[in-house]
Amino acid sequence: MFEDLLAAWDGDEAVVRFDEPSGAWMIVAVHDTTLGAGMGGTRMKPYAAAHDALADALRLSGAMTLKQAAADLPYGGGKAVIAVPELPARGSEERHRLLVRYARMVDAMGGTYVTAADMNTGQADMDVIGEETTHVLGRSPELGGSGDPAPGTAAGVFHGIRASAQRGLGSDELDGRTVLVQGAGSVGARLAVLLHEVGAVVVVADVDPGRAKETADRVDGTAIDAEAVIGTECDIFAPCATGGVLSAATIPKLRCRVVAGAANNQLQEPYDAELLAEAGILYAPDFVINAGGVLHLAGFETLGWTPEEMATRLVGIGDTLLEVYDAADRDGLTTDQAAVRLARSRLDAARSPSTSSAASSAASPSAG
Ligand code: NAI
Repeated sequence: MFEDLLAAWDGDEAVVRFDEPSGAWMIVAVHDTTLGAGMGGTRMKPYAAAHDALADALRLSGAMTLKQAAADLPYGGGKAVIAVPELPARGSEERHRLLVRYARMVDAMGGTYVTAADMNTGQADMDVIGEETTHVLGRSPELGGSGDPAPGTAAGVFHGIRASAQRGLGSDELDGRTVLVQGAGSVGARLAVLLHEVGAVVVVADVDPGRAKETADRVDGTAIDAEAVIGTECDIFAPCATGGVLSAATIPKLRCRVVAGAANNQLQEPYDAELLAEAGILYAPDFVINAGGVLHLAGFETLGWTPEEMATRLVGIGDTLLEVYDAADRDGLTTDQAAVRLARSRLDAARSPSTSSAASSAASPSAG
């Protein structure tokens, strides 16, 4: 029931619309606007029921709040889902009309939600949305956008892997380390190249074996069967495909010392972070390590960063992870709990600025 899902949700605003011409449900969930407008991608996919689509949007929007706060960006958390009966072909008139109607819905929200690409949507779709609203990031550079954020995401994950190797393997030197990349898509394929450039041994898997082989060939690596990922020995496992890969069923079979990759919602349950810690596997919280995409979008389009500033902020993802790992060790938390606490502390500070500035003045010997 929609009512039950919404009653149990801790977010700010959810807009649900049934689009009669396409039979799609359009759902925008704005989880938290403490730091700024709710920003997050629009996912287009068929769902078994509208209820599942709403559940996805609500859950994913909460994860975006944490991601934006951990990345220290002036955005809140939002996410949208277009639950289509079946995916309209890219470039089709049907898809164009659907996106125009969706863009008008986003525009009517007056800027509480800012959209971007997500699963099954891309730059061309953002260009169409941009015909109707300014509340969109990731349009083509020719139209004033910053384009595909995947290169930023891959670079951020790369820096996150280095920091995680430093903590989990004793050195950030990746030369000779084996990294297993699950998913050779926009992010995974780019990550494989970055890893190869510093001498890592890259193993790649994809449900599309041709894609895995193409990437493996490009980086002198090895392609393995997608089914063989869990259980394949490596130093670092980088999930860059789908969510839910880390669970009570898979964690005991992992043969790695670090998990650090781009996929959203890697833990099936929050408790899985404890299982990873008990297994002696260092886990890079997904919403920290994969923030390169939102840094790319916000940095280039909203905050006017130069490429040099962007590069510094992407390296900073590694620093944030080291901070998270220190806090987890110090306070007996899982790395996921420590990352959530870091994000929540930024939200709390923004909600009560006077308290936090008084606290920081008191803590800082140079202040005042
Ligand atoms: P993509 O759709 O370009 O690539 C995903 C790849 O994974 C595809 O090649 C697909 O065939 C493969 N795949 C799907 N299920 C698989 C499985 N079970 N085993 C092996 N391979 C499988 O997606 P993209 O953009 O590269 O994103 C990858 C992940 O990173 C997703 O979870 C996404 O939500 C997340 N992410 C992406 C960002 C971006 O900037 N593109 C930003 C933040 C997170």
